[in-house]
Amino acid sequence: MTQPIIKVQQLDKIFSTDDMLTYALQGIDLEIQQGEYLSISGPSGCGKSTLLSIMGLLDFPTNGKLFFEGADVTKLSLEQAATIRNEKIGFIFQQFNLIDDLNVYDNIALPLRYAEQPLNKKFIKEKVDHYLDLVGMSSLYTRKPTQLSGGQQQRIAIARALVADPSVLLVDEPTGNLDSKSSDQIMAMLEVLNIQGTTLCVVTHDIRYAEMAKRKIYLLDGQILGQRN
Ligand SMILES: Nc1ncnc2c1ncn2[C@@H]1O[C@H](COP(=O)(O)OP(=O)(O)O)[C@@H](O)[C@H]1O
Ligand SMILES: [Mg+2]
Repeated sequence: MTQPIIKVQQLDKIFSTDDMLTYALQGIDLEIQQGEYLSISGPSGCGKSTLLSIMGLLDFPTNGKLFFEGADVTKLSLEQAATIRNEKIGFIFQQFNLIDDLNVYDNIALPLRYAEQPLNKKFIKEKVDHYLDLVGMSSLYTRKPTQLSGGQQQRIAIARALVADPSVLLVDEPTGNLDSKSSDQIMAMLEVLNIQGTTLCVVTHDIRYAEMAKRKIYLLDGQILGQRN
């Protein structure tokens, strides 16, 4: 087996607030291999978002180890973590997180404009055009996010997540703000992306969508209850 993109070992996350400790994750062991389509499901509060945040270097574990493409990334500085995130990880969230002041084109181009090495305009345009086309939004590239439906906004978020060629796409409740038809379309789009080679980890409390993944992880009270292929 090749080296996993993400590997989590004996991971705990304890939140401490107002004299109260919350054991959000306990003893999690998990690997994500290249090309995988993994879902993490379980009831609200079971630790799904916390686990995804730690795997995406948005948060740090309390105990345990995290490896990204073989490198130990458990104890990076905020700046080092940000560099790996920007270069290697695509995120999709329930709230789309688009920038309302920027049009669709500029929202998608954003990760490329923040690249470590400056990229030329032609390269950026080719990339943005490609992903606009891939998510079926080419005709609406001058619109602002507020002029789009929720489903259209999520497609833009998908294009933005992919534009810098990440190693893995981490997705947290992608359909949480969408009607059922748009939800089905977004999940179908993610499935096609995986078939085309994108490594995908989708967090969802919706069992129907969790079942679309090739490997399913079930969380309960911060622990892995089981998994199925
Ligand atoms: N920043 C935080 N501070 C304190 N507690 C938190 C924080 N984030 C999450 N939690 C707690 O950790 C547990 C897991 O939360 P979360 O990962 O958001 O669950 P899920 O995404 O499965 O709904 C919950 O009990 C939640 O209240
Ligand atoms: Mg959550």
